[in-house]
Amino acid sequence: MAARRRGVAGVVAAGGGLPDVRISSFVPDGIDVLAVPVWSGRVLPESSPVELDLAYLEGRDFEGRPGETQALLADDGTAVIAVGVGEPSRLTVEGLRRAGAAATRAAARAAVMATTLLDAAPDGVDAAEAARAVTEGVLLASYGFTTYKSAPPPSRLTELVVVSADPAAGGGAAEGVAVARAVCLARDLVNEPAGSLTPARLADVASAQARRAGLGCRVLDEAGARAGGLGGLLGVAQGSRQPPRLIELLYEPPGAGRDTPTLALVGKGITFDSGGLSLKTAQGMTTMKTDMSGAAAVVASMTAIAALGAPVRVLGLCPATENLPSGTAIKPGDVLRIRNGRTVEVLNTDAEGRLVLADALSLAAEAGVDAIVDIATLTGAVSVALGRSIAGLMGSDPAWVDEVRAAADRAGESVWPLPLPDEYRSELDSDVADIKNVGGTGGAGTITAGLFLREFTGGLAWAHLDIAGTARSEGAEGYLTRGGTGWGVRTLVELARRGVVPRRAGAVRSAHWAGRTPVARLAIRDGESPRSRPARASGRPGR
Ligand code: BES
Ligand code: MN
Ligand code: ZN
Repeated sequence: MAARRRGVAGVVAAGGGLPDVRISSFVPDGIDVLAVPVWSGRVLPESSPVELDLAYLEGRDFEGRPGETQALLADDGTAVIAVGVGEPSRLTVEGLRRAGAAATRAAARAAVMATTLLDAAPDGVDAAEAARAVTEGVLLASYGFTTYKSAPPPSRLTELVVVSADPAAGGGAAEGVAVARAVCLARDLVNEPAGSLTPARLADVASAQARRAGLGCRVLDEAGARAGGLGGLLGVAQGSRQPPRLIELLYEPPGAGRDTPTLALVGKGITFDSGGLSLKTAQGMTTMKTDMSGAAAVVASMTAIAALGAPVRVLGLCPATENLPSGTAIKPGDVLRIRNGRTVEVLNTDAEGRLVLADALSLAAEAGVDAIVDIATLTGAVSVALGRSIAGLMGSDPAWVDEVRAAADRAGESVWPLPLPDEYRSELDSDVADIKNVGGTGGAGTITAGLFLREFTGGLAWAHLDIAGTARSEGAEGYLTRGGTGWGVRTLVELARRGVVPRRAGAVRSAHWAGRTPVARLAIRDGESPRSRPARASGRPGR
């Protein structure tokens, strides 16, 4: 598959404004700059194709530490960037990814960059993995969101040449391109202003991407959500002029049959979170177009899963809506009925993510999937606990949580587990409904949010990623750029490709799953009893 993607000339066209990637067994002519790895103590790998003026590097205080770069001319006149890669025994795959990013930033004005960074690949890391990491690092660092800039963006990298004689490097680079493209799609979706990326528009983009990738896609509109009893999604949406959507994507591996397990990915798609009547502060709202980062990660990762292939079926579900205050908005104290029949007392309308996720998780559980992962910018509290570069990981099944953790580790995204103690469940006891949507004053906001979600997972193997801290970056650092990070895409792609999904007894084992997806089931039920669907006019006053 990778060989096919490389194309006839061995060039992987990245598209989307990203540089193309080519493998070459030698440093070709016509490049603008060559990025070479330098170990700590200014030591060049034995295989280095160039000699550098080490005294010059010393004079510029370049030691070879990770992240350090220094531009210079090689003895043969080639423009070179020395890229520090640290101690040989300490360099990791993530280190290679970061080295690729550092080279890219240092080569800001180059159109064609070649790199011999694979010469520094650690022992036990094959050429494919190393090429993938370097490709990802370079492509992700060269991303920019320029849709609304009047002045043309400064000249950028158009081609990356990964120098390697190993035939496996090409496949790795092609994988890196597919993954980086998906991460940048997620970043684009996150960075797009909420005024333009409404729930309907998000659904349109998802469906266009699905068509291109060969994924199944069904979108439930407001009437469908009502017919389907998605009270959480409708409750959050009722304050907004923009109608909600439930986006469903389906990947079926070639030859999928009754034995193929199904993984559900659920992404929070709040296209703007004002807090609703429990209004956020002006400052707190400035970044809230980011609140659909979970949905962006699900949509984008599924395009890469389709491009790269995975041994499991993957069902993506993204509830999408705005959360706004208005005369029709949900009020603190209102009670909503979630898809699975449970009632929720909404005491804080700013805890809206868990309400829309409750419907989507209920649908996934009902559809008979084997395991679920949800990903959501759910709580500000997660960045109090873990900061801005580590996502919170919780779940109901320790083995499944470990599997998600292993996928994140391999993908180079940091997660840390938090507990879901039964002891804290009483924080969510409601006077009037089955559960309330916020905990008491006991703190642990990330954990109580996780405990809330657990109620809707039907006892399935389920893991939850809280990415409120990691979904955006305030600066250009490593391969991150300011704004949306696309966090989670790499983890979800890795998870699906590993394909280790706990099989659930009683899971739907149909060879033709497309007709049994949650949205397909709702549509069938609709068809059977058309009068069970309330008239549209009874919806929302004032429209
Ligand atoms: N979308 C926010 C969480 C968030 C906060 C994401 C900051 C990114 C940055 C979520 O809907 C929210 O408002 N959560 C509340 C929950 C609280 C009301 C229990 C929060 O974290 O304050
Ligand atoms: Mn909120
Ligand atoms: Zn939110």
